[in-house]
Amino acid sequence: MSDAPVSLRDYEARAKLSLPHNHWEFIEAGAMTESTTRRNTSAFEDLKLRPRFLRDVENRKLSTTVLGSEISLPVMVCPAGGHKLAHPDGELATARGAGMSNTLMMLSTSSHYPMEQVAEAGAGPKWFQLYHRGYEVTEMLVHRAEEAGFKAIVLTVDTPVPSPKERDVHNHYENPFPLGNFIASAEQTAAMSGTDEAPNWRPSQVPALKWDELEWLRGLTSLPLVLKGVRTAEDAHIAVENGVNGILVSTHGGRQIDQTLGAVEMLPEIVEASRGQAEVYLDSGVRRGADVLKALALGARAVAVGRPLYWGLAVAGAEGVHGMLEVLRRELDHDMGACGQTDVEELEPGIIHVPQGWGTFGATNIP
Ligand SMILES: Cc1cc2nc3c(=O)[nH]c(=O)nc-3n(C[C@H](O)[C@H](O)[C@H](O)COP(=O)(O)O)c2cc1C
Repeated sequence: MSDAPVSLRDYEARAKLSLPHNHWEFIEAGAMTESTTRRNTSAFEDLKLRPRFLRDVENRKLSTTVLGSEISLPVMVCPAGGHKLAHPDGELATARGAGMSNTLMMLSTSSHYPMEQVAEAGAGPKWFQLYHRGYEVTEMLVHRAEEAGFKAIVLTVDTPVPSPKERDVHNHYENPFPLGNFIASAEQTAAMSGTDEAPNWRPSQVPALKWDELEWLRGLTSLPLVLKGVRTAEDAHIAVENGVNGILVSTHGGRQIDQTLGAVEMLPEIVEASRGQAEVYLDSGVRRGADVLKALALGARAVAVGRPLYWGLAVAGAEGVHGMLEVLRRELDHDMGACGQTDVEELEPGIIHVPQGWGTFGATNIP
């Protein structure tokens, strides 16, 4: 395989060949039977396109905005802990790759490079993903993120209990690198060690945040707040009631809870419940331009990719992340033209065939 990768599948195959086996397993793993991970992608396949023809599709606009930041394509980079597993330049390379594609990167609390360094790398806008590990640690992280120029706080809500991956348990896997945001303080590193992605992850000594503590979090910063991992209309409803600015519909790539719906199946009820009061995004299982098109037509403002960022890094560092994103841009651009669409902000829901009874599971439970 000496030619340039033409699809994300190619990036995945090459990354598998180049990464150490246990790192590869850690990145690919899902919770327990991994059925949620599989369902993320199969749910996208269950949605079918209904193309419209004899329209002028010569000029197609892929750019959009997310919480006011301009991005040149509606595909962002997910927050994911520890990019040094795939490339020595880690999150710095990811930030450069995302910047080359003029899109947004979300940086994990568990990054290998400190947030201040990542903030300086690459030209694109950045959001900081937060794991709450106690009031003191959270306050320190949020203040640093605001100071460093991150444009939003993304609170991950779908890790209330640990979720070791069986592959990692078999491999006795341990993340070999320290967490960049805690290098200064051994105490803080200890508080954060083994965050959700490692097999030795343990419940933090402090309880997870609850709805009535969001006000406290908001009071720490003037930055907008995005909740990542919301999966039901019920929670989306509470989120907008609490003034949340964005909802990232996500199954955490199927890494946290087994036997759930795929992310795109949850999207319609969450879009409905958020009633235009919060921007809605989606991650988990996005692998093709058609997946982006489907999610946007169902009401997502933009999507994000997780595992593919590691594949891009493993193949060619920053250039690989950029190349992976450009594959999605090319595919999306093609699919828009093929379906008679010219603007990602004006996609028609009618271009998607949704199987009967699909995607309306919880909407009726809202008060
Ligand atoms: C190796 C790995 C580490 C991750 N670490 C985090 C993290 O630190 N914080 C977080 O909110 N999500 C984390 N995620 C979840 C991603 O943000 C995202 O929800 C998921 O990867 C999207 O699914 P996809 O991999 O199918 O694109 C991680 C995912 C992977 C694969």
